[in-house]
Formats: sequence, C-alpha cells, structure tokens
Amino acid sequence: MKRLLRAKVPVTVLDVIFFEDELAAIRAEFPGSDLQYVRGDIRDTGDLAVAMTGVKGVINLAAVSRVMWCLENEPDCTDINVKGTQRVLEAMPSTAWFIQASSREVYGNPDHIPMAEDSPHNPANVYGKSKAEAEDVIITHVARATSSGGNKINAIMLRLSNVYGSAYDHPERLIPAIMRNALSNRPIQMVGGDQDVRTARAPVLTSTARHGVRRGRRRRHDARRHAAASQNV
Ligand SMILES: NC(=O)c1ccc[n+]([C@@H]2O[C@H](COP(=O)([O-])OP(=O)(O)OC[C@H]3O[C@@H](n4cnc5c(N)ncnc54)[C@H](O)[C@@H]3O)[C@@H](O)[C@H]2O)c1
Repeated sequence: MKRLLRAKVPVTVLDVIFFEDELAAIRAEFPGSDLQYVRGDIRDTGDLAVAMTGVKGVINLAAVSRVMWCLENEPDCTDINVKGTQRVLEAMPSTAWFIQASSREVYGNPDHIPMAEDSPHNPANVYGKSKAEAEDVIITHVARATSSGGNKINAIMLRLSNVYGSAYDHPERLIPAIMRNALSNRPIQMVGGDQDVRTARAPVLTSTARHGVRRGRRRRHDARRHAAASQNV
C-alpha cells in the first residue's frame, strides 16, 4: 500500500477491522495522499459496492490468514477465503485487474523442494484447502468472463510463503517471532513438519541453524536466512 501511495495512486481499503494508530501513521507518512477506508466485510455486497466505486484494480488480501485460525474456525475460513473471494470478483468493475494473495499452503507437503509452480495442489489443512478453492473460483470466474465475450480479466495469484516487514506484523508470525526473540536474547523455537523441535538462544542461532536443523536442505537454508535477517535489524 505504501508503494501505491508513494506513486500517488488513490487507494481504498476494505477491512472488517482497522486500527486508528496504523491509519494515522500512514496518513502522516503520506500527507495529501488519497487513502479511503471502508469498514466492511468482503462477503457483504453493500460494503463491496461502496469500496469498489471507480477502482481500477483489486488486491485481495482479506482472509482468515493463519492455519491455526482456520483450524479453530473452519466455517469462517471457508466462508471468507472462498465465498469472500467470489464476492470480490463479482463486485469489481469488469475492467479491473485482480491480484490474489494465495498461499504456498495449496501445495501441502510436497515430496521435494523447491516445487514447480504447476505442482499439483494437495493442501494438508483447511487453510490450504480454502486457498486452493479460492484459486479455483478465480480461474472459473476469469474463464467465464472470457467465454461470455466480456472483458478479459487480468488476474494473477501469488502463492506467498512467509510475509513480513510491517511494524504491524502479527507478532506470532514466524519471521517477526524469530527476530523479536533474537533481538531480546530469548529462546528461538522451530516447530512443524518433520524436523525436530529445537530451541536456541539468539547468539547461537546461526550455529543452530547451520548444524541443528538437520533434515532437509530447504529448512537449513531458510533458518540461515532468518538468522541473517534478524542480524540485519
Ligand atoms: N502472512 C503470511 O505469511 C502469508 C503467507 C501466505 C499467504 N498469505 C495471505 O496473504 C494475505 C494477507 O496476509 P496477512 O498476513 O497480512 O493477514 P492478516 O490477517 O494480517 O490480514 C488479513 C486481513 O483481512 C481482514 N479480513 C478478514 N476477514 C475479512 C472479511 N470478511 N472482510 C474484510 N476483511 C477481512 C482482516 O481484518 C485482516 O486485516 C492473506 O490472504 C493470507 O492468506 C499470508
């Protein structure tokens, strides 16, 4: 969003929640920018109609965005991530472009890494399943628009892995959590997948990353990058 505002592109945000301090900080950083905020739900056609007025493109970030949250609330996960995506597509102007924040979770636990972009979808949890279904919804919507002689929709789906970088990142997300603990010399724990559970104090993070996480080249590589990133903060 900051890049868009920096480029003087008008931005409308539609979200069920917003934080006054975050909004105030963005407005202070980009005085005179055209930033509109609509508090609403992507499943609500009325809210969407307000937010979509005059838009040239849509970046759909709204979601139940964590595996754990989806496990705790499966109906909302499917409803927001799949039906919500459908509603957004239906509400946007036919000339608008569309970018979907999808997830590498659509691949599940692939046999080898890196996997190719066209590797089969085999989600291992309800979050991944909802993201894969949202992709299907987008593909169907775009194909239908094209075959019915309407405008060709320029749509792209980005299968993100670990997003970080905002001061407002969820503190429990992987990279912010590693960085915070590294900076405050607290234990760093890596769990999940088939790796062993390892803990380390921050000063030995690099060493732990190199020698402690044994299974799988990717994990060793990732851990090194996270360690390097935390040292650059
Ligand atoms: N963070 C990551 O590492 C990661 C990785 C892969 C994919 N993604 C995807 O990228 C997108 C953004 O991720 P994030 O980490 O910023 O998530 P986030 O949880 O910080 O942001 C999602 C936003 O969607 C809003 N939202 C939820 N339900 C809504 C609804 N019904 N109507 C309107 N707004 C609603 C939430 O209030 C929140 O502000 C998500 O689609 C997520 O699935 C994130």
